[in-house]
Amino acid sequence: MSKKLTAICLLLTLAFSCAGCGGTPTRTASEPAPTEAPEQVQTEAPIPEQETESAPQAEIAEETSEAEKQNTVLVVYFSATGTTRGAAERIAALTGADLAEIVPAQPYTAEDLNYNDRSTRATVEQNTPDARPEIANEISLDGYTTVYLGYPIWWGQAPRILSTFVESHDFTGITVVPFCTSGSSGAGRTGETLGEQAGTGTFLPSTRLSAGISEAELQAWIEK
Ligand SMILES: Cc1cc2nc3c(=O)[nH]c(=O)nc-3n(C[C@H](O)[C@H](O)[C@H](O)COP(=O)(O)O)c2cc1C
Repeated sequence: MSKKLTAICLLLTLAFSCAGCGGTPTRTASEPAPTEAPEQVQTEAPIPEQETESAPQAEIAEETSEAEKQNTVLVVYFSATGTTRGAAERIAALTGADLAEIVPAQPYTAEDLNYNDRSTRATVEQNTPDARPEIANEISLDGYTTVYLGYPIWWGQAPRILSTFVESHDFTGITVVPFCTSGSSGAGRTGETLGEQAGTGTFLPSTRLSAGISEAELQAWIEK
């Protein structure tokens, strides 16, 4: 009897263990759920990976060429009382150019700039054609193809320190765009004169920028 029971138990065990052998395979806890399989295929698919990598590369290339373009333009200026500096900063902001100030080795005091007294420094310098006030800082023109050059008008001319600057730099291959500020005088031939003193580069005629020039007017001048 006990042999018969043992045989029955064995048969039942075999029957249950083979119940899943026919069609659908069974899954153990360690095997991935079927719903996970398509997700894995999607994330490993090569096309989406290529798309996500190529977009940032294109952006980086664009940014690099933009940076290279900006670095070819420089705004250099001399300003004794801040008006020309303001114009220079606006031009640099609009063009994305680098900005450099011509710093006099001996700063101009208010008394130096007092044009009501003809014996004061600035006026004496302007009345001395070969005066060349010393510049304190080095300004490199390496890599620049366009240089905006700003200055105030002093007695109808560019301050002599501009002559120091143009005579001590090589403008070969550079287009110089002179601009100036003044109480009321025009730029005159100041751009041409600076070009003659430089002896290199292409100097355009200077443009007087009024203190109240609008952003749109400034942009139009830059584009011209
Ligand atoms: C010594 C001296 C001479 C000047 N001569 C003239 C001039 O001939 N015509 C004029 O319109 N303004 C003249 N000005 C005024 C300046 O050109 C004007 O204030 C300019 O915008 C100042 O620029 P800055 O602030 O960048 O130095 C003179 C100023 C000084 C200090």
